[in-house]
Amino acid sequence: MPIRQEKITFFERQLSDFFQKAGRVELPWRKKGITAYEVWVSEIMLQQTQVSRVIAYYNRFLERFPSVQSLAEASWEEFLPYYSGLGYYARGRNMLLAARTVVDEYSGEFPQDTLKLQTIPGIGPYTAAAIMSFVYGARHIAWDTNLKRVVGRFFFGTKQAPIDGEYFETKFVTPRKAMNAALMDFGSALCTARPKCAACPLRSRCVYYLEDGKQEVKKKRAEPVVRRDWKEAEAVVILHDKHRLYYSSKRKKYAPFILPKGYNTRAGIKAYFETNYGLTLAVRPPHEKRAEAGKLRIFVNAQILLGTPKFPTFSAKI
Ligand code: ADE
Repeated sequence: MPIRQEKITFFERQLSDFFQKAGRVELPWRKKGITAYEVWVSEIMLQQTQVSRVIAYYNRFLERFPSVQSLAEASWEEFLPYYSGLGYYARGRNMLLAARTVVDEYSGEFPQDTLKLQTIPGIGPYTAAAIMSFVYGARHIAWDTNLKRVVGRFFFGTKQAPIDGEYFETKFVTPRKAMNAALMDFGSALCTARPKCAACPLRSRCVYYLEDGKQEVKKKRAEPVVRRDWKEAEAVVILHDKHRLYYSSKRKKYAPFILPKGYNTRAGIKAYFETNYGLTLAVRPPHEKRAEAGKLRIFVNAQILLGTPKFPTFSAKI
């Protein structure tokens, strides 16, 4: 499905103008001379949390772990306070594993190669492309849902576009670092889930705008509505105190506590641990809700304030 080069040129020019006027150049991960380690940290955090929240986490994290070596040497307990609140513990675990992989297998340097980057835990095609373009100025498009939506709508009228990022790798002429950043910012400011077409400088040639978004509307209506009753959910509790993480099984590392039904509110979780184990907890708001193993699960972090836990603890080395 070829696209006319002249239309691509228009798209690039408009995006460049937009970026000059409204690009978020002040974001800490957009600084000049950024390292692969710094871009990698930002991308892992940005996968799960909004830009505005990531900024503080990011700066604090890099102050504590300024290099991949310093992160590779950290224990899970040292790492956790700088990560908790960002959700998804599997990703946190991968971050430590990744740092250790870079140090052990790549002499402490992130490889300058898309495929090798993807041998590192937690790095997929998107993060590899982001590192390659933002650090090394390579031609890769960091093809995430935001970019898919912007490009898909403009050229095809729908975010389910029949193309992928590679299609554009030889077609865009703008330096990729700027193009990726411009697409991300444009997708976050204007071409959002509910796009702000009235303010869009690309609309005169945008298929989505010209068709009044009809392709996306159709798709939306066809989607079945899944009802989720979170009252029925199980709470998955990640239990820790200031020094250690506790798990629910002697044999299985990383096994969090999965509470019986009916104990999925903050009060319920507190009552459960108080009654069964004599522990007083501070329970944080859920950091994730999702369906897993055919069940709805709410993931929360809880810190032991009072009482002596008799659970197995995480070893320092994961
Ligand atoms: N800049 C680089 N990567 C980014 C991302 N994932 N989201 C927003 N801005 C970014």
